[in-house]
Amino acid sequence: MKCSRCGAVAQVALPSHHSGFCPDCFRVFFSRQVERAIHQHRMFSPQERVLVALSGGKDSLSLFRELVLQGYDVTGLHIDLGIPESSPPARAKVEAFCAALGARLTVLDMTREGLPIPQVKASVTRPICAVCGKIKRYFFNKFAMDNGFAAICTGHNLDDEVGRLLANTLRWDVAYLSDQGPSLPGREGFVAKCRPLYRVSEYETAAYAFLNGLDIHVAPCPYSKGASFTRRKELMNRLEIESPGAKLQFYESFLKNARAHFEAAEARGGAALAPCRSCGYPTSAGVCTVCRIREKLA
Ligand code: AMP
Ligand code: FES
Ligand code: ZN
Repeated sequence: MKCSRCGAVAQVALPSHHSGFCPDCFRVFFSRQVERAIHQHRMFSPQERVLVALSGGKDSLSLFRELVLQGYDVTGLHIDLGIPESSPPARAKVEAFCAALGARLTVLDMTREGLPIPQVKASVTRPICAVCGKIKRYFFNKFAMDNGFAAICTGHNLDDEVGRLLANTLRWDVAYLSDQGPSLPGREGFVAKCRPLYRVSEYETAAYAFLNGLDIHVAPCPYSKGASFTRRKELMNRLEIESPGAKLQFYESFLKNARAHFEAAEARGGAALAPCRSCGYPTSAGVCTVCRIREKLA
């Protein structure tokens, strides 16, 4: 197979785009997908300060590298979850990566915050991944708000987005469907959230990380085994093999044709938010989840 751009030998085949690329042209393809996502959804400009959540995995490190190369004003934020098997190596990868790039990084340590994830896991009945996700989003938002960032970016890729869209659609979950998308504007108590990798697949970010020699954290979280989101991704991948391009089309058609309806429905009947009595974070429950867990552990 020949590279669709320059005619050299292709090394990355992309059936979804009916093309294949040599390493250099693949880097150009990847950059353009990120650029297109940022511009099309008016995520942020080079003049704005942007926080990027770095887990140490291929997606967030690839995103961070790309934003630095494209000249954006980015700062990394890593949440050390305090999981003995996985947190120290993940944190070390993020720290080494940012040091090599000469980029700013802040690490928030959940053990110091009184919220080490193994203890949180022992204290809740709900699946830990959902609770851990809530805690991470809480600190992403709080840090960005307290420090005046224009937006927080995460490394969610097309497969993450489509897997979540499928789950939300199977339940017709109006609240979640109303705010699923690559770019959520800031509002009272919440900083803007952006997902500039939403156009690239898991395979494409893995190829980008590999071709650029990124030293990434690869071990999965010890608590995520058999998680339902992995099975949904597999399901969508089977659909993609049958019908190349189906994932991006499913997601973009949702944004174009359906999302506004869910947003309007949620605006009519959604739960009202008020500041948490303890920390001020917007919540519909009086005291927010993070403060309730913190009190329980204390
Ligand atoms: P995940 O939910 O693990 O697939 O992660 C989705 C995105 O959330 C990643 O691409 C990162 O941008 C961010 N993220 C996940 N875990 C962390 C962490 N411990 N610290 C900072 N950002 C994280
Ligand atoms: Fe949070 Fe695994 S990363 S539970
Ligand atoms: Zn609170």
